[in-house]
Amino acid sequence: MPDNQLDLLGNLQRSHMCGVLRAKDAGARVTLMGWVNRRRDLGNLIFIDLRDRSGLVQIVVDNEADPALHKKAENVRSEYVLAVVGSVKRRDAATENKNLPTGEIEIIAEELRVLNDAKTPPFSPSEQAIGNEELRLKYRYIDMRRPEMQSNIELRSRISLAIRKSLTDRGFLEIETPFMTRSTPEGARDYLVPSRVYPGSFYALPQSPQLFKQILMISGFDKYFQIVRCFRDEDLRADRQPEFTQIDLEMSFPTQDRVFEVVEAFLVAAFREGGIELKPPFLRMTYDEAICKYGIDKPDLRLPEMTDARKAFTEENLNALSLDPLLPVVAVRIPKVGELSRKERDDNKQLFSPKSGAKLIDDLKRLEKSFPEAVSKLRELSKAEAEDLLVLVAGGPANDRSPIAMRKAAEAVYTSAGAFRVALAQKYKEKHGAFRKAGTADDYRFLWVTDFPMFEYDDKEGRWNAAHHPFTSPHEEDFGKLLSDPGAVRSLAYDVVLNGTELGSGSIRIHRQDIQQLIFHALGMSVEEARSRFGFFLEALEYGTPPHGGIALGLDRIVMILAGAESLREVIPFPKTAKAVDLMVDAPTPVSPAQLKELGISVKT
Ligand code: AMO
Repeated sequence: MPDNQLDLLGNLQRSHMCGVLRAKDAGARVTLMGWVNRRRDLGNLIFIDLRDRSGLVQIVVDNEADPALHKKAENVRSEYVLAVVGSVKRRDAATENKNLPTGEIEIIAEELRVLNDAKTPPFSPSEQAIGNEELRLKYRYIDMRRPEMQSNIELRSRISLAIRKSLTDRGFLEIETPFMTRSTPEGARDYLVPSRVYPGSFYALPQSPQLFKQILMISGFDKYFQIVRCFRDEDLRADRQPEFTQIDLEMSFPTQDRVFEVVEAFLVAAFREGGIELKPPFLRMTYDEAICKYGIDKPDLRLPEMTDARKAFTEENLNALSLDPLLPVVAVRIPKVGELSRKERDDNKQLFSPKSGAKLIDDLKRLEKSFPEAVSKLRELSKAEAEDLLVLVAGGPANDRSPIAMRKAAEAVYTSAGAFRVALAQKYKEKHGAFRKAGTADDYRFLWVTDFPMFEYDDKEGRWNAAHHPFTSPHEEDFGKLLSDPGAVRSLAYDVVLNGTELGSGSIRIHRQDIQQLIFHALGMSVEEARSRFGFFLEALEYGTPPHGGIALGLDRIVMILAGAESLREVIPFPKTAKAVDLMVDAPTPVSPAQLKELGISVKT
């Protein structure tokens, strides 16, 4: 039997959403449904702020007009679910609420149905900031009633739709690929799903649909896309989740430029949903240029680039400073930071993590005493104003002076400087102001980074790894260096970067079996290993594979940036914590011995 305190919905139908009513609706009879955001009891008058996805509206229950209704309203509590029938009344100028879009009007209640009651929630959806994120995640259904979350999730839906439309308008087909599959080549750990039918065998959840989308090209679906969930068991950060969503696409016969054009078009559509009108084409920069100018492959262009300050110093200067004259001297400038105390400089030293021999010079006043000319030239080269923070990163004398070692040492100077630049930029964001909450297209500094190196050397393992993935095509001009000088081979891989965040990565792929074999060989992968991991794919390559290429962008990251959020958890309805736990459903959990037995699994604790 239903609780007789509660009313039935019956045939009552909602006529309007709460947040849409305005002065022009005055006099209309409306039926609203929603949650009690707040109830204020002023004796004869009870005010209820009724909330739904569209916003809030004030309901007035007047004891003099209807004592029975007033009595009912007295029992209403926060988060009860109500249906209200009433008429829209223009408020007096004195009682208008300028902070509320519906603040010009209120609803004079004539009927009130309590459709459901609610326990007192652990926090109120009307609270602005709830410090305890664990509580928010445990009670995610209440957290998502908050206007910020509602607006983020709605934005996400609109962005997905805009991207789908942009791609389908250009002839792309949305095609699904399997979730239960085998290990994919993205390089993180897999989430595995045990097979009951084949005990000891496992499916892997896809880290991306990479090989399937390439196979779709072999099948002749020349423009594929998918807004697709991917799974990676990796260390989590604010911009990483174990399951996340990619906008994944692949095209046959494309040049790199065609891929860029397609991506720019859907990003324009997506950003329009966030009220930002982007102006493609985006800036482009090679990987080498990005490293020299920003010391990182995902430069944040909102702050000045680093300056090559080598020519400010003579060889004697550098020798006197115990710096290697053949390595770069890089100036990092953060505007408007002002004079730093000695203590603050010392604190900043903790932010500097030097890679192989890179050195920090952070006291330019002291440097100036010994080398006044050099410092004045340095200020000129880096266009530093008096109130800018300026520091130098250079290389200590290198022991191994072979070309490979010197190339590595130079890169270490750039990347140490680049990482320090990012850390300082974050620390002094209030002072330089370049990271203000974005408002116009100029605040979104997009960039294509191209010509990534094909391989990265893994010092620990003593071998080359694919910098993107092993299906990425090398530059045609660099084919000859694949075996003789792998470190110098450029790839046709590219990233799209926004304000220091990698939004997406892709490449033109290898479509020829012979080149693919060469790459596996360069990666030190035996024919047997390649066959056992990717045999199905290598075979498919032999049946008429067209030249093809594509990219995948992180949808969660796009929404996060457009929502002005600091973490992916703000734009994913049911995210995991930094420890990969879903606090609401309490996953992962142990399973019953019977279930394990059926799967042929025994667990060691
Ligand atoms: P990649 O591994 O670079 O490329 O991934 C593409 C984009 O996906 C997003 N992303 C993530 N977002 C949230 N949490 C994560 N754990 C996470 N990992 C990746 C990023 C990233 O830029 N198959 C290739 C693409 C291709 O070559 O076409 C791939 O997956 O925004």
